[in-house]
Amino acid sequence: MGTGYVGLVSGACLADFGNVVVGVDINEQRVDLLRSGKVPIYEPGLEELVTRNRDRGRLNFSADVAFAIKSSEIVFICVGTPSQPSGEVDMSFVHSAARTIGQYMEDYKIVVNKSTVPVGTGDEVEQIIRQVRPDADFDVVSNPEFLREGSAIDDFMHPDRVVIGAGSQRAMEAVIDIYRPLYQADVPMVLTGIESAEMIKYASNALLAAKISFINEIASVCEAYGADVTAVARGMGLDERIGPRNLSAGAGYGGSCFPKDVQGLAATARRGDVEAPLIQAIDTSNVRQRRRMVDKLQAMVGDFDGKTICLLGLAFKPDTDDIREAPALEMIAALVSAGATVQAYDPAAMAHSQAEHPELVCCDDPYTAAQDADAVVLMTEWNEFRNMDLPRILDRAAAPKFLDCRNIYDPQEMAALGFEYVSIGRVSRRPGDGLEENSSWMVPGRFSPIRT
Ligand SMILES: NC(=O)c1ccc[n+]([C@@H]2O[C@H](COP(=O)([O-])OP(=O)(O)OC[C@H]3O[C@@H](n4cnc5c(N)ncnc54)[C@H](O)[C@@H]3O)[C@@H](O)[C@H]2O)c1
Repeated sequence: MGTGYVGLVSGACLADFGNVVVGVDINEQRVDLLRSGKVPIYEPGLEELVTRNRDRGRLNFSADVAFAIKSSEIVFICVGTPSQPSGEVDMSFVHSAARTIGQYMEDYKIVVNKSTVPVGTGDEVEQIIRQVRPDADFDVVSNPEFLREGSAIDDFMHPDRVVIGAGSQRAMEAVIDIYRPLYQADVPMVLTGIESAEMIKYASNALLAAKISFINEIASVCEAYGADVTAVARGMGLDERIGPRNLSAGAGYGGSCFPKDVQGLAATARRGDVEAPLIQAIDTSNVRQRRRMVDKLQAMVGDFDGKTICLLGLAFKPDTDDIREAPALEMIAALVSAGATVQAYDPAAMAHSQAEHPELVCCDDPYTAAQDADAVVLMTEWNEFRNMDLPRILDRAAAPKFLDCRNIYDPQEMAALGFEYVSIGRVSRRPGDGLEENSSWMVPGRFSPIRT
């Protein structure tokens, strides 16, 4: 139930494992699109995977939820769990899915919560189904999903672990069986109770988000003292207890998961009368980091009124068209409300962004977006920006100002090209700034400084 990023990817991958899957959604347009052979979201490899499994008859889509529930042994709930303004999780889609399941189930079913849900949801789902159908025979299982948009299929097919929380052996065994290829490939299976499985997902996302907020704060300290956060992150990440991932300073985290899951965990702690200042601070720090990007740009160009700003990248991260909670949106809102014109380019997320911000000037490529711009701001580190023709950008722009919110360029090279270049947690460079003595071997990551 639910054919969004998680439902569609999970459904297609489970079909590829040899299971027969039917995807249902309350969004009829989406179901029609899927039935016509199209894929409504951008995710590398997804279209091929969906087509292959549709052609083999293992993956179908339907708006007939009654039929889908009756004919399935296992029902996966993959609906959205957005944030409410209070930070509490909006559980209405999960509750409604549970009611629908109760309404149509006839024989024994296993109901699997794959949506990210607060601890205690397993019980809630059980109670809702019982209210609708008091004589129902079913088990509820928690099987949180850890895929990342942009690498969702690979993440699903080669996960670090599969977490299954169940209250009965029958349900546990049935869900393990669904994942047989992973089980046989020795992917670790964390088999636990429902509450623990629910907590594993929230705790994992909160810690990953905390790493990002931590390195962003370190970046600010680096800026104040002339240190380079990329070198600092590398030096930290080589410590196996820390690890290198999620240690890239940037514009702050976004997306449909980290912001809402961190807020959701903080709200869960509050509801349980638990003081959790550290968890609360992850979000506070991220909100500040996003604001810092706007402040940095303002320090470069002054008053935004009447300025033209080029934004490169709108998606919350590369290889997705998802703009939910994208830092670029906050930048656009700040610029537009202050009277700036925003010219933007993103390889996949333009349509969604234009729908949310009709005043956005969407361009066909980075060079058109840079035309007459008072500053160029890189918001998302798509690969195509890494090898962009930077002199051409410089040539098109009205001023040589470049704010790199993802640290993808070399500060010295940018200065040598003629940019006034500002990035995150690194010393800013102006055109004509000379190369530091011996600087080539100092560039982090360029050489492994192992000397014999
Ligand atoms: N997107 C990610 O990267 C990711 C990763 C891991 C976990 N999650 C979690 O997975 C869940 C789903 O996330 P998503 O990004 O796929 O959301 P999404 O918004 O892309 O998709 C949710 C889909 O569910 C449908 N839906 C809502 N109520 C329904 C119902 N009663 N019956 C059938 N369909 C219904 C919606 O129409 C929508 O198409 C969330 O809890 C999220 O936190 C997301």
